[in-house]
Amino acid sequence: MSAPTTKSMDEIVALCRRRGFIWQSSEIYNGINGFWDYGPLGARLKRNLKEAWWNDIVERPPDGPDGKPVSIVPVDCTIIMNPKVWEASGHVAGFNDPMVDDMETQQRFRADHLIGVWVFPMNAPAADEVPTDVDFAQTQASAPEMTIVAANPSEAVQLLANKWPKILKGLSPLGSEEYLAHNYTAINFVPPDEGMNASSYQRCVLKRVGADRIAQSPQDVPSPFTGEKGKLTKPRMFNLMYDVFNGPIRNEDNRTYLRPETAQGIFTQFWNVVDTSRVKVPFGIAQMGKAFRNEVTPRNFTFRSREFEQMEIEFFIRPDEADPWYRYWRDSRFAWWQSIGLAGDNLMLREHEKGELAHYAKAGEGVCDVEYRFPFTAPGFGELEGIAHRTDYDLRQHAEHSGYGDKLRYFDQERNQRYFPHVIEPSAGADRGTLAVICEAYTPDEARPSKVYLKFTPRLAPIKAAIFPLVKKDGMPQVAENLYRNIRSKFACQLDVKQSIGKRYARMDEAGTPYCFTIDGQTLEDQTVTVRDRDTQDQKRIAIDKVETFLLEHIG
Ligand code: GAP
Repeated sequence: MSAPTTKSMDEIVALCRRRGFIWQSSEIYNGINGFWDYGPLGARLKRNLKEAWWNDIVERPPDGPDGKPVSIVPVDCTIIMNPKVWEASGHVAGFNDPMVDDMETQQRFRADHLIGVWVFPMNAPAADEVPTDVDFAQTQASAPEMTIVAANPSEAVQLLANKWPKILKGLSPLGSEEYLAHNYTAINFVPPDEGMNASSYQRCVLKRVGADRIAQSPQDVPSPFTGEKGKLTKPRMFNLMYDVFNGPIRNEDNRTYLRPETAQGIFTQFWNVVDTSRVKVPFGIAQMGKAFRNEVTPRNFTFRSREFEQMEIEFFIRPDEADPWYRYWRDSRFAWWQSIGLAGDNLMLREHEKGELAHYAKAGEGVCDVEYRFPFTAPGFGELEGIAHRTDYDLRQHAEHSGYGDKLRYFDQERNQRYFPHVIEPSAGADRGTLAVICEAYTPDEARPSKVYLKFTPRLAPIKAAIFPLVKKDGMPQVAENLYRNIRSKFACQLDVKQSIGKRYARMDEAGTPYCFTIDGQTLEDQTVTVRDRDTQDQKRIAIDKVETFLLEHIG
């Protein structure tokens, strides 16, 4: 493994702002927390990412595990749906995060982001695997990979009580039933590096906790904003869905929600798709679009936003064929993220531990994340996409809540059987994907006038080619404009006539433009132009009428 990224997030954010990739929403009014706009370069980049997903996965997915073409159809559903959808899906009751308030500053954040060491319910261990003689003070120094193994949260607490009574004393005020129901238990408190997933976080925290940081009561937990102790409320559960009222009367009967995931639109239209599209299990339904979550602590640029875009597929399969399809989606989704430029050590695939499973996932089977090492998570990783075996949970829930029940079982003609198909769900974030692509592309280079360039894979680059007349005379601008007119019909390109050629290259380096074509004196004599490669900065001459072929070959 190479060394973790040392790129500066502050510099990346500054570049995004300066060059028009990403801005705060409503910036002239001081912004609004958790909402981001994409400028001209960012909007193109994000659109290219979504188009790559659409072309490669929805329209032309890799062949299935049986070597046959895979069938996927798209839908485009509404953001606001009947509120019963969210009751059936479990979101009204269960889409919660634990929230803590700083009583002094009124600031609010997620309790699980404040708390250092987590205990995950895992497989019940064999008796001899349970550590019996761990000295906690000593463990911190010598056992960075310590994991506490328990079958469920209460067993975890019991285990802690037996082994480390001192820690349990610190844990009990936060270890309320409600908190434990969230599937983990805290034993120590250190503000984390935001954005890390639980297990990278756990590993990192374990390396750096000191005995003096073990909280003996909630009064010992310092506020992450003021550093003062004794200012925090107990954690309370907080539903992440945005309420909206449908129609003019704002009462309970008219309450509904902005969708927190695009998946439920797909599930509720599953039966219409089957009836109208001649699809047969196994097949997928894809949707990309906005989702909204009232995140307690949106942060890390666009990584955790309140409004974001998802690219989701619900892939419907026979219940006994989950394993090969899960592996198919896990492997093909990982390969796809590699193919769009995240091919190095900063990308990883992580199978979930059992304690991390969402309410719909089948215990112990088929859940993993594709994760990227963002500068703000390093040395840990943050999730780009989750791939989950959701079983038949959602279809059954909707069948039951809609009142149709077993009538909605899918009829498999080949097998002459009725069943609720199981689902493998690859669910990706377009904004997190875009952010990962920017972070990966960001390449400091002191030797360049721009000091940095963005090494986008050409397919994703917002501008594919720039066309420069060397000087504004001798007919060069006209030749450049003609070339620009030809090329723009096929590729996003830019004509730039202002300032020195060095400054123009620098602008294109910061925009991540892979190729710049310059019309100079020689062009007028022999109809050739220089083409400059963004990454190597090498220049060579090609015939002006071969520019389009060159771009087709190099960008596709
Ligand atoms: N239908 C399953 C589902 O929604 P999820 O893991 O909650 O699963 C899927 O979300 C993806 O959506 C994540 O991997 C992430 O890329 C993106 N995502 C989720 N919450 C987000 C947020 N607050 N801001 C930006 N992206 C988010």
